[in-house]
Amino acid sequence: MIILGINAHHADASASIVVDGKLVAAAEEERFRRIKHWAGFPSLAIEYCLAEAGVGINDVDHIAVNRNPSARMWQRAKFILAKRPSVGAIRRRLANRAKIADLRTEISETFKIDELKPVLHNVEHHRAHLASAFFVAPFDDAAVISIDGFGDFVSAMWGAGSRGHIETFGEVGFPHSLGIFYTAITQYLGFPHYGDEYKVMGLAPYGKPSMMDAMRQIVQVKGDGTFALNLDYFTHHSVGLDMVWRGGAPVIGPIYSSRLPELLGPARAAEDPLEERHKDIAASMQAMFEEAFFALASRLYEKTRNPRLCIAGGCGYNSVANGLVFDRSPFRDVYIQAAAGDAGGAIGAAYWVWNQELGNARSFVMDHAYWGPAYDDAEIDAAIAARHTELEAARCALHREESEPELCRRTAERVAAGDVVGWFQGRMEWGPRALGNRSIVCDPRRGDMKRILNDKIKRRESFRPFAPSIVREAVGDWFETDYDVPFMLQVYQIREEKRALIPAVTHVNGSGRLQSVTESQNARYYHLIEAFRDLTGVPIVLNTSFNENEPVVNTPAQALDCFLRTNMDLLVMGNVMIRRTSPVTG
Ligand SMILES: [Fe+2]
Repeated sequence: MIILGINAHHADASASIVVDGKLVAAAEEERFRRIKHWAGFPSLAIEYCLAEAGVGINDVDHIAVNRNPSARMWQRAKFILAKRPSVGAIRRRLANRAKIADLRTEISETFKIDELKPVLHNVEHHRAHLASAFFVAPFDDAAVISIDGFGDFVSAMWGAGSRGHIETFGEVGFPHSLGIFYTAITQYLGFPHYGDEYKVMGLAPYGKPSMMDAMRQIVQVKGDGTFALNLDYFTHHSVGLDMVWRGGAPVIGPIYSSRLPELLGPARAAEDPLEERHKDIAASMQAMFEEAFFALASRLYEKTRNPRLCIAGGCGYNSVANGLVFDRSPFRDVYIQAAAGDAGGAIGAAYWVWNQELGNARSFVMDHAYWGPAYDDAEIDAAIAARHTELEAARCALHREESEPELCRRTAERVAAGDVVGWFQGRMEWGPRALGNRSIVCDPRRGDMKRILNDKIKRRESFRPFAPSIVREAVGDWFETDYDVPFMLQVYQIREEKRALIPAVTHVNGSGRLQSVTESQNARYYHLIEAFRDLTGVPIVLNTSFNENEPVVNTPAQALDCFLRTNMDLLVMGNVMIRRTSPVTG
């Protein structure tokens, strides 16, 4: 049985394909379209998934989408009558729902077929989120929680999963939302772009949570573990939240009201300097999120008494809160799927149909994130040949190394020498993080590495940390929490005595957003880190995504383009090493 899962007409559009209960491929449309968070119909991701499975669209038995336009009609109507949002907002919302309702036509037109055979399933947004974590988790039963901005008029849902079934216990509906709270304060702090929340999460450790009284005026945590927003500080409930898609990218207008600056002081413009006050607000916002999240998680534990927790939804990217689960709640195991946010809905919708609707037994655990396209030697060679003249002009030396130990040893040597190394291998990662197949790796021991990386490629805000990849066996030696973090979605404290050894990946508060790597998950990356450890005694490399203000690279041509456009020192693509022999000037 073949199930195609899609997240369409929503940020991070994506597709996945599940064959007889096993995930075969999954990818985000942004990687093909080259527009971050691309939010239309994921035709290229669908094409890729079908090709990877070796099937055509009419060989698919079921298509599952993570939206249900007919869910909560009553609540939606009540909201429109009570709040009277602007005509434009209603029109945008209806147009978006019509697109979801008419996916059958869109798919038929895209694939140029008269009669689309697969059965179409609309899976409610948060049920798809819950399914995207639990049905692929390494647990037969678990408590499950999903928190985001909004989807199908709901911002949070929770329940318990047991084998092939999820039972939901409760939800928080529009207009109350922890995701909206986080986005509103992120905007207020001068970070206006869709997806900027993680920047403010990185800023938070520089401040003190000294404004909790104000935060508790904005978010009310209730005795039953749920939460409510004080709507005086927001506008999404009155003018409507609907995002607009500008050139395919989601753009969200300001959602905080003029009352927020009255409470917290003047809002910061994007170009203004970051003051202590801003850092304290970021710290307080993060603390408020944690307070609400752990109130809900703890009540869920009381109900389920299950020590295992699955987390999904956009707020599942709050790796700081995820890293506190063992300290702040009774849960003893945690699983967050690589694409915890809306892209993951493509997997969740597919598994909701496979397990929950069709009653199949659990059949798959997602223990690695390598579900995207791979490119063979011939494709890599062709991409290099196409840029031959520029590579020569940039004085690049090419070396082919067929022995993997030798390739890893030579690369590790360059990392240890301070080079910025592009590492392009195997199948592209699923989810927002580069996890050793479309990564840039550097030496974590150098205090100046962050600056070098920002000068040569990244140009990120100086306060943002870079992350470590560490061989799984060494996590307990270097971090205070010894646990699996395959998808870089938990932040743990680095052991105090180790922090000075890896300054480039140690955040200001001594934490690190680690990726733990096993040989079975990614042998070549594991061997690279091992080779670096053999040279230096440190079983860790700095890992950042292979891109420059664009979606993470997908193809060899895109990798080469990024290499030539930036000041990257070395590009290792498959078995080919391309090294700049003299630095770029100008
Ligand atoms: Fe969502």
